[in-house]
Amino acid sequence: MENPTIREAEIKDAVPMAEILREIGWSEKRNKMSLNEVSKPIEELIEHCSKDAKGHTMIVAIDEKSKVIGFTNVHWVPFIMLGSWEGYVSDVFVSPQAGGQGAGSALIKHVMQEGEKRGCMRLMLTNGKEKPSYKTGFYKKMGWTERPKVANFVYYYKEPWS
Ligand SMILES: CC(C)(COP(=O)(O)OP(=O)(O)OC[C@H]1O[C@@H](n2cnc3c(N)ncnc32)[C@H](O)[C@@H]1OP(=O)(O)O)[C@@H](O)C(=O)NCCC(=O)NCCS
Repeated sequence: MENPTIREAEIKDAVPMAEILREIGWSEKRNKMSLNEVSKPIEELIEHCSKDAKGHTMIVAIDEKSKVIGFTNVHWVPFIMLGSWEGYVSDVFVSPQAGGQGAGSALIKHVMQEGEKRGCMRLMLTNGKEKPSYKTGFYKKMGWTERPKVANFVYYYKEPWS
């Protein structure tokens, strides 16, 4: 597969998106839940993002059989200190069965082009240092820079997937 097609996410994509997350298997808890339990909240998120296309861009990569093989989600954040906009990429996931065939790069390139069209100052995301994507320099190869002086803080209301 050379060039996966990128399109906006639709409600019906919630199930294949949930399946991809389960295939990747980062959470034992999620993998024990029913597909419906995993996909229902995703449906709500797709609906939210597609109703506010100015604020969010949720996209999927599809193969030649129109199967969803990956997805990403970016939120366009008005950033006062920058006097501009930052795109926060919250999710980048490709089915392991379709990995290494360009879907992840195609999703990120699409986001980079969208940010440029919108006149954004920069894009931002987090990448677990123990993940293969970090170790193989997925984002660095695409021109992204790791920030040496910035710590990534989170405040948890709930531990995700604990
Ligand atoms: C990271 C991820 C999105 C890459 O998607 P992909 O479709 O396999 O990526 P591509 O085929 O476009 O590009 C692969 C390139 O990235 C590197 N790479 C990224 N992730 C990799 C992985 N898990 N295993 C091996 N190589 C990986 C490869 O070195 C390859 O580089 P090359 O083109 O120089 O050979 C996918 O592996 C994934 O969903 N991983 C789990 C979730 C994750 O880590 N997301 C990113 C952090 S938020």
